[in-house]
Amino acid sequence: MNIASFPENFVWGVSTSAFQIEGATTADGRSPSIWDTFTADRAEACDHYHRYPEDVRLMKELGMAAYRFSVSWTRVFPDESGKVNQAGLDFYDRLADELTGAGITPYATLYHWDLPQWLEDLGGWPARDTAYRFADYAAAVHERIGDRVGTWFTLNEPWVAAFLGYGSGVHAPGRASAADAFRAAHHMLLAHGLSARALRDGGAAEVGAVLNISPVMTPAQVSDFGRTLSDEDAEAVARIDALANRQFLEPMLRGAYPAELLAIAERHGGLDHVRDGDLDVIAQPLDLLGVNYYTPLVVQAQPSEPADPAFPGSEGILFCTIPTAVTAMGWPIVPNCLALLLDRLSGEYPDLELMVTENGADFVDVVTGDGIHDVDRISFVEEHLRALRGAVENGAKVRGYLVWTLLDNLEWADGYQRKFGLVHVDFATQKRRPKDSALWYRDVISRNGLTE
Ligand code: NOJ
Repeated sequence: MNIASFPENFVWGVSTSAFQIEGATTADGRSPSIWDTFTADRAEACDHYHRYPEDVRLMKELGMAAYRFSVSWTRVFPDESGKVNQAGLDFYDRLADELTGAGITPYATLYHWDLPQWLEDLGGWPARDTAYRFADYAAAVHERIGDRVGTWFTLNEPWVAAFLGYGSGVHAPGRASAADAFRAAHHMLLAHGLSARALRDGGAAEVGAVLNISPVMTPAQVSDFGRTLSDEDAEAVARIDALANRQFLEPMLRGAYPAELLAIAERHGGLDHVRDGDLDVIAQPLDLLGVNYYTPLVVQAQPSEPADPAFPGSEGILFCTIPTAVTAMGWPIVPNCLALLLDRLSGEYPDLELMVTENGADFVDVVTGDGIHDVDRISFVEEHLRALRGAVENGAKVRGYLVWTLLDNLEWADGYQRKFGLVHVDFATQKRRPKDSALWYRDVISRNGLTE
């Protein structure tokens, strides 16, 4: 059997997030987050809070070398008193022990969208003070488990949290104001910088952030990326790239907002909330950039098009459907875009180490007596891994790859109907059952490669 190998020490694993799997929403002093308030679904999720030993055992059996999880802020600071709730931190302490005991490297994410409701009541992310509260929270978590957790991601996908949470309102807290979305985004960036500094001062081994970088292209570029664009289309692509990608990449990695972004924000309440010195705080040195990739953003210029509320400033731009296979979420499957994006990032930031911190797919699974034969998910992951390997051969520095996700779980506003897991969960019994994709992934990990 010929094997298409990955680099030696390539890190294989999975990612999850607290709100999507933990459940136990009132245990040990936890208070509600904005997602408890927002979601209509029962948030028992996968009851991982109580079943984590079983879940860690499962990961070990599947051969995972790394596990990226997130910490729930409301377990640590359930109210505005500023007093750390050690009972909430106990859970992450036990989890860190369980993981290290199983030989699995923990990667912690501090903000995966579950802002404390009490902080939202004080103004949420559009309020500057939230960024300072975040730095205190980061320091408290690090102080408790930093001896076992070496790698810290500050934020997960701030574009989604700011623009779907405060711009279009389809995510918690459900506010719809373009001006608030830009304020929220800036304060998340500030929170990133302040917490990165606090983590380093506390002795954290590695600090990074996780961004959902989406390649932006026109429909014609999906099959021929090198193609020349009309001026109008090139402008549409640049504008969406500034909003979705460069709004976060450039402050973090270059210490400045892109000019296009400044111009757009000026039309939506301005940037009076950006203070002198903020960008220096935001541009802390990063050890690792986590990249989440699912699907590209496909756009073209169309003069009469109204702005999409998730992308304030996108007037005159049409978001296109393309004739390719899609996942059950309706997201076009374009594996080559993962290579494009890794090539781009390593070209623009040659010294930065990258890690694919999420990639995976929702498909309708059929549970049969002899298993869950999720062939679509296997080909999705396999094709993306081939693309990733190509980028690595081209010189991209990619530390590893984490599948989204270990368990079927609570997919935010979409609820439990979405199935991204390598492992099926029966939500009536909480029984876990590895799908074929989990067993296939175990084999990929054990041979550190794909069969050719
Ligand atoms: C990215 C998010 O980080 C994760 O929470 C979500 O479930 C996946 N995308 C799939 O939508």
